Amino acid sequence: MEQKAFYNLSYGVFILGTKSGDKINACITNTCFQAAANPVRVAISCINQNLTCQMIKESGVFSLSVLDQTCTFDTISRFGYQSGRDADKFADFEHSLDSNGCPYVTSQVCSVFECKVLSSQDLGSHTLFVAEVTDAKVVSTNPPLTYADYQANVKPKKSDTPAPSKKIVAWKCKICGYVYEGSELPADFECPICGHPAEDFEPVYEE
Ligand SMILES: Cc1cc2nc3c(=O)[nH]c(=O)nc-3n(C[C@H](O)[C@H](O)[C@H](O)COP(=O)(O)O)c2cc1C
Repeated sequence: MEQKAFYNLSYGVFILGTKSGDKINACITNTCFQAAANPVRVAISCINQNLTCQMIKESGVFSLSVLDQTCTFDTISRFGYQSGRDADKFADFEHSLDSNGCPYVTSQVCSVFECKVLSSQDLGSHTLFVAEVTDAKVVSTNPPLTYADYQANVKPKKSDTPAPSKKIVAWKCKICGYVYEGSELPADFECPICGHPAEDFEPVYEE
C-alpha cells in the first residue's frame, strides 16, 4: 500500500469543542464531513487518547468551529499541540457556549455547528462519531481553511536553526505524543496512531 496515496485526500480544519461536567475543552481536527443531508448528519474521527474524545464519549455533545483562512498558527497550536489535560485552552481566548454547553469560537472561523452524538464506533486508534446537527450558523464570509492551505501557508516551515549538540534518542509526534525510538526518523515515516507525517515529529534528546 502506498502511504502517500492518503495525502491526496482533502480535508478542512476545525476546532472541535466539547464539555464534560463543568469542564470545557477542544482540539483541532481535520477529519469531519457532512455525512447526510436529510436529516443533516456529520461524522468526525477522534484520536482515542485525546481528552476531547473521552469528553465527547461522556457528554454526547460537541461543537465544530470551521477555521477560515485568517487562522493563525497560534490558534492551531493552542488547540492542536497541547492537551486539555495539561492546559486550560480557553483561558484568555474569546469563546461562547452553545445550547449544549459546548465552547465554540467566532474569530478566525466562518461557520459553527452544534451537534449531538447518535452513534460511535471504535476504530482502534480513533473513534468515529456520527452526530445530528441541531444548529448551524455562518459567522463570516472568509473562505474556509483547507488542510492543504494549513500545510502550505499556516504551519511554520522547518527552522534553519542549528540542532543542539545533544544526541537525538527518539522522535515524538507533536500531534498525539507517540514516541518513535531511534535517532533517525525515516523521511516517509507516518505516525501509527494519528497518521501525521515525519515533519510533525520533534526530536527527543538524551538526558
Ligand atoms: C492540523 C491538525 C489536525 C488534527 N486532526 C485531528 C483529528 O482529525 N482527530 C483528532 O482526534 N485529533 C487531531 N489532531 C490532534 C489533536 O488536535 C491534538 O492531539 C490535541 O492536542 C488533543 O487535545 P486534547 O487532549 O485536549 O483533546 C490534529 C491536530 C492538528 C494540528
